[in-house]
Amino acid sequence: MDLNLAHPGLADPEYYVPGLPADWVTERYGIPADEVAKLGSAENPFGPSPKAMDAVRDAIARMHMYAPWTAEPLREALAAKYGYQPEDFVCGSGETEVIALIIRAFAEPGGKVLMTRPCFPMYHLFAEAEDRRPVYIDTPDMTVDVDAYVDAIEPDTRIVFVTNPHSPSGTWLSEADVRRIVEAAPHALVALDEAYVHYSDTPGYIHLAREYDNLIVLRTFSKAFGLAGLRLGFGVANPDIARPLLAVKPTWNVGRLQIEAGVAALADDEHVDRTVAAILEGKAHVTKRFAELDRFRLVPGTMSNFMLIEILDPDTDSTRVFDGLLERGVIVKDGSVSFRGLEKRYLRSDINLPHRMDHLVDALADLP
Ligand SMILES: Cc1ncc(COP(=O)(O)O)c(C=O)c1O
Repeated sequence: MDLNLAHPGLADPEYYVPGLPADWVTERYGIPADEVAKLGSAENPFGPSPKAMDAVRDAIARMHMYAPWTAEPLREALAAKYGYQPEDFVCGSGETEVIALIIRAFAEPGGKVLMTRPCFPMYHLFAEAEDRRPVYIDTPDMTVDVDAYVDAIEPDTRIVFVTNPHSPSGTWLSEADVRRIVEAAPHALVALDEAYVHYSDTPGYIHLAREYDNLIVLRTFSKAFGLAGLRLGFGVANPDIARPLLAVKPTWNVGRLQIEAGVAALADDEHVDRTVAAILEGKAHVTKRFAELDRFRLVPGTMSNFMLIEILDPDTDSTRVFDGLLERGVIVKDGSVSFRGLEKRYLRSDINLPHRMDHLVDALADLP
C-alpha cells in the first residue's frame, strides 16, 4: 500500500536512533545485563534520585486525578530554585518535547532552523517532520565556531539551536560566546540546550533568560537527576515566549508522577552532587587510560558525561569498532549512525564509573 496522506515533510520519515539497551547484548552475546557497560544513552549510573522515587510512590494514589495542565507545582518549584516566575516556564515530557514545541511555535512551514552539524538529532528530525528547514553550521573539527554561528544567522532565521555542553563533543562555550550568538539573532528565538549542564560543574547560563527576550534555556531531568525513563524537561524564557509554547503543548503533557518526582528531584542536591562527582572522577580516569591506546584518541575538552572517540587507525571504521565493542559487552554510539555529519571516524561514549571506563578501554585495546 502506498497511501501518502501525511504532509510532504513526512514522505520519507527518519527516526531517532537511541542507544541500545543492555538486554540486546545479553540476547545476542550471552553477557549478563549487569556486566554490560551501557555507554550509549548518557544515563545516570546511580539511578533515580531517591527523593523522586519516594514522591512517585506517594503520588500513585492520586493517579486517577488529572494533574494541573501547566504542571504548576513544578513550575513553582523551578521558579523558586532558579529565581524566576512560574509563568516563565514550560514543562514537557522530556526536554525533547519542549524542543518539538519550539519548532512548531517559532518557525512556520519552510522556516529556517539553524543548528550545528553534527548536533542532537532531534533538532533536524523534528524540523523536517514539521516541514521546517534545518540549516547547518558544519563543525568538522568538533568545536563550535562562534564566528561561523554569527555569520550563519540570516534575517529570515527563525530558531537558533545552541547546545552547551555541546553534543556530541561535550565542548563548552563561554558566556561571552553565548551572548554573542543571542545578540546576533534579535529577530529569532535562540534555544540554549543545557541538558548536560550539571557535568560542567558550573551553574550554566540559565540566568541569561532573564536578560534576553529572544532566549529560551532548556533543561532535562533525564541526566543528573536520573529520571530519563520518567520523561521530564523544561524551558525557561520570558512569558511572551512561554505563552505560545503552552498553546501548542498537548494539554496534559506532563502527568502527576512526573510533576511530583520533578519537585522532589529538584530538592535532591545530594543525588546530583554525588552523580557529578562520580562522572568527573570517571572522566579523569578514562582520560588517563586513553593514553595507553594508540589507535584511538579522545576529542579533548568535554564538559559533559560523554566524550567523542576518534579512530586514528585508517584500517578500521566506527561501525566495525561499534560492533567489536558490542561483542565485548560495551554499548556506545556509532557516530555515522547516530549523528548527521559525523561519518565513520567517531564514536560517542558516555563517561561513567571508573570500572565501566576500564571495560571500555580494555575492549578497545582488545579489538583486532
Ligand atoms: C543535547 C540533548 N538535548 C536534549 C536531550 C533530551 O533529553 P530528554 O528528552 O530525555 O529530556 C538530550 C537527550 O539525550 C540531549 O542529548
